[in-house]
Amino acid sequence: MNSYLRSQKRVVLRNCGQIDPNSIEEYISSGGYRALKRALLEMEPAAVVQTVKDSGLRGRGGAGFPTGLKWEFAAKAEGDPKFVICNADEGEPGTFKDRLILEGDPHCVIEGMVIAAYAVGASKGYLYIRGEYGQSYETITNALKQARSAGFLGNDIAGSGFGFDIVVRSGAGAYVCGEETALMESIEGKRGESRVKPPYPTDKGLWGYPTVINNVETLANIPPIIENGADWFRQIGTPTSPGTKVFTLTGDVMNRGLVEVPMGTTLRTLVFDVGGGIPRGRKFKMAQTGGSSGGCLPASLLDIPLDFDSLREVDSSLGSGALLIVDDSHCIVDVVKSFMHFFEHESCGKCTPCREGTYRLARLVEKIEDEEATLADLDVLSRLCRVMERSCLCGLGQAAPKPVLTTLKYFKEEYLVHLRDQAASKGA
Ligand SMILES: Cc1cc2nc3c(=O)[nH]c(=O)nc-3n(C[C@H](O)[C@H](O)[C@H](O)COP(=O)(O)O)c2cc1C
Ligand code: SF4
Repeated sequence: MNSYLRSQKRVVLRNCGQIDPNSIEEYISSGGYRALKRALLEMEPAAVVQTVKDSGLRGRGGAGFPTGLKWEFAAKAEGDPKFVICNADEGEPGTFKDRLILEGDPHCVIEGMVIAAYAVGASKGYLYIRGEYGQSYETITNALKQARSAGFLGNDIAGSGFGFDIVVRSGAGAYVCGEETALMESIEGKRGESRVKPPYPTDKGLWGYPTVINNVETLANIPPIIENGADWFRQIGTPTSPGTKVFTLTGDVMNRGLVEVPMGTTLRTLVFDVGGGIPRGRKFKMAQTGGSSGGCLPASLLDIPLDFDSLREVDSSLGSGALLIVDDSHCIVDVVKSFMHFFEHESCGKCTPCREGTYRLARLVEKIEDEEATLADLDVLSRLCRVMERSCLCGLGQAAPKPVLTTLKYFKEEYLVHLRDQAASKGA
């Protein structure tokens, strides 16, 4: 077996490329909807919540919040109706894992949503999908029709007496609408802007009712957990980040695309074994984990395990699972500039620190690249980043400074060579 396959473990992607995504029969014959029947016919809702808690599954949408705990909050919250939302907005640049899960194994996500709904007592679900994902939209719509005809959606699912159905909503291309509260505003027909938290969605979510919102990959993990048990899941990955992680490998790496490895696999294994190394004889310079709002890591951190906690220790994050590899032909300031343009464009403008801050960050990085900046500008840049981290209303503005802060930490010399006053920058 070659190193590309040897390092991978397919839990979420187990059916992708193996079965016809347009055929519910093929999904069922590969064991599909068995977990749903087990949950709805043999388990109490609280036991389902407990199994997911025991598995240690943490949300794959970015923040890594424990899924079972989220479900428990929603199950205990007062309110009727309750909702389950599948977040398939996936606006993070360089991320396309949710798209390929939906296109490769749509029934697995539907099955995960029904189990979540049963666990928390929800009667209606929404699948919020990125507007540009035409193929995913068609595949999931077709799968929903099939699931309804087969009795896995609607009233009295699989003869259990439990009823639940799912509606698909298409986004209009705003990155902020992946943020859970902005997404709910969008479903409610309002402008996509983040809400102040608390209250959290499990208490007051869609139209003010208790709502569980989970990422596509999180939900795709649910059927195998119910089927094989929490202990089985805990054997994969690390003690605090069990399971696998789907990464989208992009940039200067030989094998680009979707890969699934146990949590805790090192960055080196992903870049050089699974990814096949750096093309054109160039050297590895930097990896950005977690998408545009993730940290930028240097070669000295190649042995870091990729899991929620290890990455937090080096000021980075697992985020959406995007892994951008940059070789030594690129200027770090130039790379950071493109991230800052993204955030400036995507800020929803609701809060001042982000609306003004993302604009100022972009101008400052441009000034540095144009060799017009001084050491004092570098100081302003890092102070602005700290202010934004603490004062922006939602994760977009809070995380936008991360690429700047981590490159200032690990690649400061690349900023210094751009400064106007080279003599002053020597001792910095
Ligand atoms: C700006 C921004 C964009 C986000 N985009 C997504 C997204 O596209 N998909 C997603 O699942 N979570 C996204 N999130 C995280 C969600 O707010 C939320 O934490 C997630 O859907 C919860 O699901 P999980 O617990 O399964 O991870 C985003 C957060 C922020 C701040
Ligand atoms: S942080 Fe940015 S995206 Fe979030 S509410 Fe404030 S302006 Fe909008």
